[in-house]
Amino acid sequence: MSLKMKKAMTLCIAGILMISFVFAGCSKKKTEDTNAVETAAPADTGSEEADVTDAPDSTDESDYSNRSAEDLSLKDIYADRFMIGVAANSWQLQDKETMAAITKDFSSFTCENEMKPDYLLDYDATIAAEDGMPQIKVDTLNRIMTMAEDAGLKMRGHTLVWHSQTPKWLFCKDYDEDKGYVNKKTMLKRMESYIEKVITYCQENHPGVIYAWDVVNEAFSDDEEGGYRLDSPWYEIIGEEYVEKAFEFARKYADEDVKLFLNDYNATIPAKRDSIYAAAATLAEKGLLDGVGMQSHHDMKYISIGDIKGALFKYAQIPGIEIQLTELDLHNPDDSEGGLATQAEIYGDLFKMLVDMKDEGNANITSVTFWGLSDATTWLTANKNETSYPLLFDENMKAKPCYFAICDAATKE
Ligand code: XIL
Repeated sequence: MSLKMKKAMTLCIAGILMISFVFAGCSKKKTEDTNAVETAAPADTGSEEADVTDAPDSTDESDYSNRSAEDLSLKDIYADRFMIGVAANSWQLQDKETMAAITKDFSSFTCENEMKPDYLLDYDATIAAEDGMPQIKVDTLNRIMTMAEDAGLKMRGHTLVWHSQTPKWLFCKDYDEDKGYVNKKTMLKRMESYIEKVITYCQENHPGVIYAWDVVNEAFSDDEEGGYRLDSPWYEIIGEEYVEKAFEFARKYADEDVKLFLNDYNATIPAKRDSIYAAAATLAEKGLLDGVGMQSHHDMKYISIGDIKGALFKYAQIPGIEIQLTELDLHNPDDSEGGLATQAEIYGDLFKMLVDMKDEGNANITSVTFWGLSDATTWLTANKNETSYPLLFDENMKAKPCYFAICDAATKE
């Protein structure tokens, strides 16, 4: 064999070896991939070949994908600590399936809108009233309260005195928006009359259903200096005394065991928190107030559980005070698996903190209400100008990861 031929043969053998090496590598890779697919099968298949390091951990607390909410009930899980509530509208209560979903998980109900002055005040009847006092639409009240009562739900009354969702005419001379505001004396008479009518009607017709009233809603400012919200007709006409007066009237007409709340949002911002605290402490000392309502509209991006805990500690300094989270939701524009998992973690941490605060006797939290049932109906989508997924159930009423995280928080060490 010539040297040339020997060289050619060596090259040829080397080439064959290289080609077979590449093929072998490919088929090895393929085998690994196949294994990966196999090991990704649910760990409970009992396959002995499964690579345990790659297999998803069935005990992984944050994997809620295989769990069913069917046999779970939030209100039962939290019964020893606090009531679990939900806000909804009468059209939701009318729907049998929705009502069943509500009573499965919730023991407390808040009207998302229908108990607000905008819905209850009757303009025509008010104009016609001989005593010149505001009149209410008792049918609206009766309809929604009957549905809640028949379903065995207790209610938070929301809300009596608020700058928003209250018709401007209530504050004006002759109930005419063109005539300007009435004086303080007249406004106080109107306030008392309205509070008396609403509370009395509820108590006489549905005794024991309403366990708490948001007597005054959003009275405080978000400004750095805190203090009262100034852009409220109540404040403009009566001055800061309107808050105490509202509580005085509510106390006068409410049954003894009905709890009276001062309710507000951003109740964790230091200056606002301190303003709420100061007013609530004074009212409580006078025997006019029973609790502070922290609305708790949070955003996943900014929520601080430490700040919430700090506010709970602060309010809890008021002797005998109850604290309720009255409008909880967690704005979340991301419904990807990751987004929902992060949301679940935050909700879980929040409830774990609430449980600890309650169990350790640091804050007398008596109810926690979610502001809406499912992501399909949340007010936040309109409010934030982007689709929000803030609640426990998705658009199809399927329990989201956060639902299970909240269930688990009740028993977490
Ligand atoms: C919201 C309702 O969810 C909406 O449907 C309505 O259009 C506006 O009011 N603070 C409160 C609640 O006290 O009454 C508000 O509810 C949300 C903010």
